[in-house]
Amino acid sequence: MSSVETGLGVYFHIPYCLQRCTYCDFATYVHTEIKPPEYYVALVKKEISQRHNLFSGLKSTPLKTIYFGGGTPSLISAELIVDLISELSKFGYQTGPQTEITIEINPATVDERKLEIYLKAGINRFSVGAQSFSDRLLKMVHREHNAQQTKDTLALLRKYNLNFSFDVLFALPTQTLDELKYDVQVAVELGSKHISPYCLTVPEGHPLSKNRPLEDDQIEMFNIIHENLVKNNFSRYEISNYAQPGYESKHNLLYWTDENYWGFGLSAHSYMKNTGYSGNWGSRFWNASNFDLYDKDISAGKKVTGIHDLSENQKEMLRKYQSLTDFCHTALRLESGLNIQNIAEKFGFEASQKVQKIAADMTPHNVIELTKSGYRLTDSGVLVSNQIFEKFTFLEDDLKA
Ligand SMILES: C[S@@+](CC[C@H](N)C(=O)[O-])C[C@H]1O[C@@H](n2cnc3c(N)ncnc32)[C@H](O)[C@@H]1O
Ligand code: SF4
Repeated sequence: MSSVETGLGVYFHIPYCLQRCTYCDFATYVHTEIKPPEYYVALVKKEISQRHNLFSGLKSTPLKTIYFGGGTPSLISAELIVDLISELSKFGYQTGPQTEITIEINPATVDERKLEIYLKAGINRFSVGAQSFSDRLLKMVHREHNAQQTKDTLALLRKYNLNFSFDVLFALPTQTLDELKYDVQVAVELGSKHISPYCLTVPEGHPLSKNRPLEDDQIEMFNIIHENLVKNNFSRYEISNYAQPGYESKHNLLYWTDENYWGFGLSAHSYMKNTGYSGNWGSRFWNASNFDLYDKDISAGKKVTGIHDLSENQKEMLRKYQSLTDFCHTALRLESGLNIQNIAEKFGFEASQKVQKIAADMTPHNVIELTKSGYRLTDSGVLVSNQIFEKFTFLEDDLKA
């Protein structure tokens, strides 16, 4: 293991949901349609035992983060969630007082008993899949919960003085600007210190692609969210995440700051900064997205002692140009932006000069601005981020090996 490895975050994917929301493209199932959670958690524990050596160089440092995502992790029994944390520690991956442990919970799936089990296990952050306080819109996208259930869940979290985040889904068909303003206002009033607004994304021809707010209204919606949150002491620390000072998600920050993360379960992705192979530009690996395939992979029982043991179609060894592309794209998502010195340190002077030139050429267009340490997107740049990322997408010929 190399010195570039500074810490590790773990992701557990829990693929059970009460319903399949019309817009969702994640690897999730209606809970009654796949094998039960006890079976799934046993598989994930098996995955931990098969792969525990992958990040063995980091066992001595407490995990930076653990994140239970989905799906709806709060739908399965709390004991199963705790079991996964214990299994990690059994193999030397310990948590400490500084470890951020987040669980995604959906309204009406957590009661006081469940919450107390979570808290005892060290879970200290709750991400609430609330989406909207409009029952009309919730029904339209096939969500099972209603606004009152969200309010009850938030009241429970407040009673225990907990740190929670709130997902807001916007630009839904027929949604008005006033409805969105209301959603943001109530989320803030009910004590959320972290808000993730998601603009609905569906493919053309999808049932929810009709009657959506027009482009100008969608831009107005981005502005409403931004202005209302900034007014309430939130800052947009990442393109689609706002937090009050000190409440940024440490786990999500790992993804955007070139840190190691290790995903377990269906469809989970991992990133290892340095594989020890020559080239050393890091590697990505991932699990099957289909329940039966994941089951088959893990049940085969293959021991994985290093990246070389993973099958070719479930890993990618990064080349320098790919690693630089990822580095730029993720850094540009952040309010802190690209740090030119960090690029020079990791990729060399020539690469940092190339990145600097691309950024400098774009500043007159008011989509990128200079910071003390490099460049970041402007408010207008955030709205066209995909076009900007394209400019920071490198090909093999752009860089020497
Ligand atoms: C994978 S979900 C997990 C959280 C929880 N299951 C929920 O949906 O409430 C994370 C977030 O992604 C959002 N999301 C899912 N599909 C989306 C889509 N097509 N467009 C925009 N956001 C989406 C959800 O609304 C949710 O807030
Ligand atoms: S609850 Fe969340 S993860 Fe489950 S189907 Fe709906 S959007 Fe997808």
